[in-house]
Amino acid sequence: MPSAIVILAAILLVSTTRTVHADAVTPKRAVELERLIRHDCGSCHGMSLKGGLGPDLSSRKFNGTPPPAIAAVILDGIPGTAMPPWRPLLSEAEAHWIAAYLAKGSAP
Ligand code: HEC
Repeated sequence: MPSAIVILAAILLVSTTRTVHADAVTPKRAVELERLIRHDCGSCHGMSLKGGLGPDLSSRKFNGTPPPAIAAVILDGIPGTAMPPWRPLLSEAEAHWIAAYLAKGSAP
């Protein structure tokens, strides 16, 4: 019954992709992440995220950039630049939440 296997694989795929989505972030944690974006990211990217030492992170900048690509930069940083990896401080779900936040310009 190969079709059952395909269906099972599809269900697994959907459930694993869901775990990296924003729904893993609680409302309380979302408030903390918004503060982190303003304070920690803002210390380099500017208080309004429009650029400072680091480039503009406002939603206009990410128009069309897929959030998973933004999340990868947040988790691993950009080697050889001042952009640090946030993996020690943020879970994958939190990085994806921040990426969605930056892409939309507000909490997802
Ligand atoms: C110590 C300074 C610093 C901090 C803190 C910092 N960044 Fe960065 N970030 C940079 C620099 C510098 C670059 C540009 C690196 C380069 O030259 O490509 C960058 C690049 C980026 C990029 C890629 C931008 C693009 O145009 O592709 C993203 C996304 C990003 N940062 C997100 C964040 C987020 C989210 C945070 C907070 C969790 C953060 N950064 C905190 C310095 C910082």
